[in-house]
Amino acid sequence: MSKNTPLVAGNWKMNGLRENASELVKLSESLKSAPVDGVDVMICPPATLVLAFSELMKESIVQIGAEDCHTLVSGANTGDLSAEMFADCGATAIIVGHSERRADHGESDALVREKAQATWRAGLVAIICVGETAGQRQYGLTLDVVRRQLKNAIPDAAIAKNTIIAYEPVWAIGTGLTPTVEDVTKVHDEIRKELVERFGAENGGGMKLLYGGSVKASNAKELMSVENVDGALVGGASLKADDFMGIINSYKS
Ligand code: 13P
Repeated sequence: MSKNTPLVAGNWKMNGLRENASELVKLSESLKSAPVDGVDVMICPPATLVLAFSELMKESIVQIGAEDCHTLVSGANTGDLSAEMFADCGATAIIVGHSERRADHGESDALVREKAQATWRAGLVAIICVGETAGQRQYGLTLDVVRRQLKNAIPDAAIAKNTIIAYEPVWAIGTGLTPTVEDVTKVHDEIRKELVERFGAENGGGMKLLYGGSVKASNAKELMSVENVDGALVGGASLKADDFMGIINSYKS
């Protein structure tokens, strides 16, 4: 078990209407009636729901995050949303560099780094995603790819308080496939080593390292018990309160 307080974060992606606030309320009520001590919980809904969800969760331990942001504070950027706008709506964190953004919008590590800086500028935590594709894995390039993404996507000013790293193997996202515990251990140990080398024991050791990719209640306990896994970034299984609680409950002793 890691010494860092774990975080179980849900990424709703492009799912959810206002009516789905009922799942958020159910989640919050479950956590109130049967608290899971020592675990942080976050939901990152689509941008359209960030304000409403933040207001609903004002008295709850459930934090609200966003899924992406622009690099600028404001400007002539039709359709884009700044980190400051999400801060204004009550978000505490922003996911940057998700593989779906990298694949669908051609986001580079350099852009992801700028988005992480924008997130900090707004006073929020950056959840920076890294992970290899199936092809890269097949060629044995996993560690090389992850090291390169860490080097280029994490700004030099990263500290434990403002940065969370999510390792999400692209081939495991939404597929039901997961790496073996040995594979997750290998990658997370390497990420930790790189972070400690670059940012020092306190900051590099204190940054939470989330695993993401087909996490569900049935595999969470095994994955979350890996030493350098400080929680999960969950897609599909975060949409329903019961499924998500099953993952959070894997931290119950
Ligand atoms: P799934 O949990 O649906 O595989 O998605 C993972 C993910 O992309 C979270 O950001």
